[in-house]
Amino acid sequence: MRQKIYVTRAIPRPAIEALEAEHDVIVNGEDRALTPDELRRNVAGCAAIVSLLTDRIDGPLLDAAGPGCRIVANYAVGTNNFDVPAATERGVALTNTPGVLDDATATHTIALMLAMARRIPEAERFLREGHWDGWKPMFFIGADVDHKVLGIAGAGRIGRNVARKARGFDMEIIYSDVEPNRAIEDETGARFVGKDELLARSDFLTLHVPLLPETKHYIGAAELRRMKSTAILINASRGPVIDERALVEALRENRIWGAALDVFEDEPALAPGLIDLPNVVIVPHIASATEGTRLQMGEIVSRNVLAVLSGEQPHTCINPEALGRRTVSQTAS
Ligand code: DGY
Repeated sequence: MRQKIYVTRAIPRPAIEALEAEHDVIVNGEDRALTPDELRRNVAGCAAIVSLLTDRIDGPLLDAAGPGCRIVANYAVGTNNFDVPAATERGVALTNTPGVLDDATATHTIALMLAMARRIPEAERFLREGHWDGWKPMFFIGADVDHKVLGIAGAGRIGRNVARKARGFDMEIIYSDVEPNRAIEDETGARFVGKDELLARSDFLTLHVPLLPETKHYIGAAELRRMKSTAILINASRGPVIDERALVEALRENRIWGAALDVFEDEPALAPGLIDLPNVVIVPHIASATEGTRLQMGEIVSRNVLAVLSGEQPHTCINPEALGRRTVSQTAS
């Protein structure tokens, strides 16, 4: 039986077409995130919702969808927008898109590192603004990357992928996590260190920790003071992992050499003063924005939704305990 699916914002066509082949799909036609009120109105009576990180999925939203709602499929690997207990209690499966973003995000991390180290955006602005009057020995001197120490906070799939790519620059790799990770050590020769050593020794420090209460402001004023004055901080994980106001202060006082950021504490707002600093590269949360990655994310989303709506297990469920909570009458379609 055809069921109603609500997609909170346009995602790649092949994913929508796969859903449309079996169900009735409504896609938010506006190119903006909807307000919670709008979302609540639009999801009424849906069996599935395809959501984004910018949509808060909580009890009131699920109640507005009604008891027929069986899955919320995030078009993201992140799940910060989910109230997991609220969904589990209601027997609603929550899914994400793990794995397919790793290469794109790790490559983007390397791009950020190189862009900041070699001052590429700054030099490009200079040229475009017509200031270039010929080769000079002493301008746009950047930081060396090859053979330097790369510190990785968080040795999950993306942190490990960054380490593998950084071996091409013959970097010494140190990492910190809640416990040592044999895979990153075996693959890259990375060495497990405590946070103190990570901060003190890294020439480049890249963050790949999940956003949890314990990792909020993992880098704050105190940590920035313990970093080298020549260090570059890179963040393509989650904005709140850095105290952005403290970072602005540190960059303003040249306490570290620079930062390259894909994510921000209060997106899409930036901390006051950040945009005016010359020693920062800032891009608008685009780490996974490659054609192939976004298509694969869409494919996972549609497979998950179609599986659940036909009574099968979703492939990447983050709350499998929700699946057992539905009564036979709720699951029959
Ligand atoms: C994610 O998927 O969590 C990214 O941050 C957005 O692509």
